[in-house]
Amino acid sequence: MDQSISPLRINSERFRTNLETLAAIGATPDGGVHRPALSEAHLQARRWFLDQARQAGLDARVDGAGNHSAVLRCGPAGGATLLLGSHLDSVPYGGRFDGALGVVAALEVLQVVKEQGLWLKAHLEAVDFTDEEGHFVNFLGSLALSGRLEPEHVRNPRGGRDRFQQALGRAGLSASSLFSAGRDPAAVAGYLELHIEQGARLVEADMQMGVVTGIVGIRSFKIRFIGRADHAGTTPMGRRLDAAQGAGAFTLAARERVMRDFPGCVVNVGNMEFEPGAFNVVPQTVTVALEFRADDDDELDEMEASLLQQASIEAQRFGLGLETAFLDSTPPARMNDTVRDAFAQASKLLGLRHTFLPSGAGHDAQCLAQICPAGMIFVPSVGGFSHSAKEFTEWEDCVNGANALLHAALILAR
Ligand code: HGY
Ligand code: MN
Ligand code: MN
Repeated sequence: MDQSISPLRINSERFRTNLETLAAIGATPDGGVHRPALSEAHLQARRWFLDQARQAGLDARVDGAGNHSAVLRCGPAGGATLLLGSHLDSVPYGGRFDGALGVVAALEVLQVVKEQGLWLKAHLEAVDFTDEEGHFVNFLGSLALSGRLEPEHVRNPRGGRDRFQQALGRAGLSASSLFSAGRDPAAVAGYLELHIEQGARLVEADMQMGVVTGIVGIRSFKIRFIGRADHAGTTPMGRRLDAAQGAGAFTLAARERVMRDFPGCVVNVGNMEFEPGAFNVVPQTVTVALEFRADDDDELDEMEASLLQQASIEAQRFGLGLETAFLDSTPPARMNDTVRDAFAQASKLLGLRHTFLPSGAGHDAQCLAQICPAGMIFVPSVGGFSHSAKEFTEWEDCVNGANALLHAALILAR
């Protein structure tokens, strides 16, 4: 083992101050954060991040997709850059660790390398990717950076076109600027991401670190059941064309189908929009936000066919019309073996118990994996809670994660 790097540690006081300062931006009374992509709170968090970068003497950079970066030129002139990052946006009323931990840790790693005056084989860049949570377009920033953003993503965003255009304007971005963010893969040496596990496997196994083996594939659709608006008091039950019946029955049946036919996969109905949406009107249309996940593309294809068939069965059963719209698909990704080894080696160097596990949550790393060696490390989530204010990771685990990120970067870039 290289003794010269073993004593190096992040500055845990600075790291903690940064995480806590960030958690105050968009803070909710229950200890979580509400920072949907390109909201005022999110933009404020991003400004804070660039201020920190500048104060640390790092270069600040914002690309056409709004990805915010701190850059440390510590490699050879014209050399490639090793990216470290995650995201500062949150789901609505989410937790303070999801994404934020990885960005603050990445910034901390750059600061430590700079303070140590280390010269590496690659430059380092800490990136805060835009809209990882898919408020508008799932993984917008990392898709754009990896050259995988399609015009259709922008034309038909899952968060709604008008809202997306307004949000881009608020952030000083435009539909066309998004496409300028693509990087030359030759200029990207790799991508490393620290994240909370968002599940309970590490805690249950009494492990301190989880080296990620692969990331789940994700597809989303809008499914609209179309009935007829009627008086809710005077229309006999048997005569209604009630869109809510289709949407409700579909939600239950989708769960049963996935549990029966697709073990290990998941489906979620995360939202329903009712129109006209009143206590006393039979719903004319209900639009269902559907997302499903699997570890491989063939299984995603089978799930898609099966779920769309179920939607059609329910529409027929209740005499409803049906419209289905494909929104987006993020392929599953295997994490790079060399990066996995680097994280495992870093864990060993730090004396941390580690294991290997797949991710059921999506991450920017799965987009980056399309253009460079990419990998992730997880730290334990107490109770396994995430996408809620209950999300919590012990401070010591946050520090362990940041140290593992530091050492994995050094192993790969020295
Ligand atoms: O939705 C996800 O899995 C992630 O948190 N973006
Ligand atoms: Mn998330
Ligand atoms: Mn995340």
